[in-house]
Amino acid sequence: MSFRLAVLGAGAVGGSVLDLADTYGHEVVAFADSASAAIDPDGLDSQSVRARKEREGVVGDGDPTAVFDTDYDVLVEATPTTLGDAEPGFSHVERALLDDRHVVLANKGPVAERYGDLRALEAESEGRVQFEATVGGAIPVLSTISDLGAGHVTAARGVLNGTANFILSRMAAEGLDYEHVLAEAQDLGVAEADPTFDVDGIDAALKFVILANVLSDEATEYRLDDAGVEGIRNVPGTALDLAAEDGRTVRLIGEATADGVRVAPRLVPKGSTLAVTGTQNIVQLETQHAGQLNISGRGAGGPETATAVLSDVSRLE
Ligand code: HSE
Repeated sequence: MSFRLAVLGAGAVGGSVLDLADTYGHEVVAFADSASAAIDPDGLDSQSVRARKEREGVVGDGDPTAVFDTDYDVLVEATPTTLGDAEPGFSHVERALLDDRHVVLANKGPVAERYGDLRALEAESEGRVQFEATVGGAIPVLSTISDLGAGHVTAARGVLNGTANFILSRMAAEGLDYEHVLAEAQDLGVAEADPTFDVDGIDAALKFVILANVLSDEATEYRLDDAGVEGIRNVPGTALDLAAEDGRTVRLIGEATADGVRVAPRLVPKGSTLAVTGTQNIVQLETQHAGQLNISGRGAGGPETATAVLSDVSRLE
């Protein structure tokens, strides 16, 4: 089935959704950044929208709020993740669901911080909510859990932050210290100019909170505040050297179980399944009857995350 998409957020993910939508059989009829919107009921041309943004700093002549007045089927919410009330993303989602439209999120805030509110709105709407892109970029974690049945998955564990993993793997491989590798990661565009969420474990924790919400019964809701979070700022190079002498290394490992969410640097055997390198992510699912499933791949990036968004769109009916 072909859907008309309204995309909010013109960053790496929103832009890639605009670029790739037609390869999935969908069209983007509205595309907005925080200050402007491009609208075309016949489908937007990604190259001309991107060229205009490059040239004039706006994506089109419209106001962002005009997006909601267009004839769209699915709202793609790809504005930056915010904590607490998860605004303005949450209000965007609310508006679309009140209008009985489907919602696909790349923004983690509403799913991690207001999961109960989100599900309550969905229950009253003709629209459905999907959010594969919020956990592990291109890796189909949530759809795998859905296929298995959330009740048959007892835990999710792994590495869900590419920036922190890149820093830890480079520190271990090259004997470099944290500050040096962070600067290198920023130069390469792996880490954001403000990498706080990544290196303090917050980004990984939000993803494991989302996993905990998906794995829990409806009465239990997790938020970031419920998670135990420790980042990688204080991991000294000497700890990695000592770990290496013992055939081990350090990774920022998260876990979501019925008992809650924890993210912290942990020792793992070198070359083991959890010791992915560079910006790779990995999720291990513990199942009730079928042992452990491991899924790894690219956990970040525009086209990678847009792939998860567009797969979610294609799952809608
Ligand atoms: N900045 C994240 C990462 C991707 O480094 O994995 C977005 O959640």
